[in-house]
Amino acid sequence: MALLETKDLGIAFGGLRAVGDFNIKIDEKELVGLIGPNGAGKTTVFNLLTGVYLPTEGAIYFNGENIVGKKPFEIVEKGITRTFQNIRLFKDLSVLENVKIAFHHKMKYSIAAGIFRLNAYWKEEKEIEEKAMELLKLFDMQDAAYTTAKNLPYGQQRKLEIARALAADPKLLLLDEPAAGMNPQETKELMETIHFIRDKFKIAILLIEHDMSLVMGICERIIVIDYGMIIATGTPEEIKRNKKVIGAYLGE
Ligand SMILES: Nc1ncnc2c1ncn2[C@@H]1O[C@H](COP(=O)(O)OP(=O)(O)OP(=O)(O)O)[C@@H](O)[C@H]1O
Ligand SMILES: [Mg+2]
Repeated sequence: MALLETKDLGIAFGGLRAVGDFNIKIDEKELVGLIGPNGAGKTTVFNLLTGVYLPTEGAIYFNGENIVGKKPFEIVEKGITRTFQNIRLFKDLSVLENVKIAFHHKMKYSIAAGIFRLNAYWKEEKEIEEKAMELLKLFDMQDAAYTTAKNLPYGQQRKLEIARALAADPKLLLLDEPAAGMNPQETKELMETIHFIRDKFKIAILLIEHDMSLVMGICERIIVIDYGMIIATGTPEEIKRNKKVIGAYLGE
């Protein structure tokens, strides 16, 4: 059984069918690219998978369960987390707090323990802080732990968003143009980090990237969409040679 499977998934906004006949399968631990020109429907796919949009057609199976109609927070609990094309952080909180918040839904202590600051609370708080620090280290951001999120350089804000998405312990991580706005060196390092994360956490990753050459370097498999429809899937080598893909990118 695939970790994620969509069946004839689609959504229309008024008269516009933004995504249609969308059928994909993602296995555990797979690193898959989702590419396509501007406005092709990539972010809309993420919004469907995470319960932000309710599809007008089709089904989404995660671990065999149809998750259509589930609320975004329920989908996070089931194991799908994401980052956003337009960064969303708690801007006035520290870097460390941003990551710690994402751990909190896993906390075991009771509300009473939280209110009365019992031992169990402090123990768990400490554990969370340590885990959050470990995640920040992976992104080489431990020195920025007490910086206010809004004061981070842009590239680091993007990395913080990924760290936070990982803190919620996903089985599938969705990354929406994580390298947008980064310089070529930062981008290269980020792609290596994404590959490393997949190996270390043994999770599946679906990566949206506008630049084809970037995903080609790290993904095992690539899905290409244009005008809301899948026009090709295959290995980077197959995609590079695909005439429909070349056409879509050159605007023929
Ligand atoms: N909430 C919405 N209401 C109406 N139309 C929408 C909505 N969300 C997306 N669309 C439309 O769906 C289409 C696909 O948009 P989407 O943002 O998914 O594209 P994308 O592939 O992520 O593009 P980009 O590379 O620019 O990020 C566009 O025509 C967009 O205007
Ligand atoms: Mg988008």
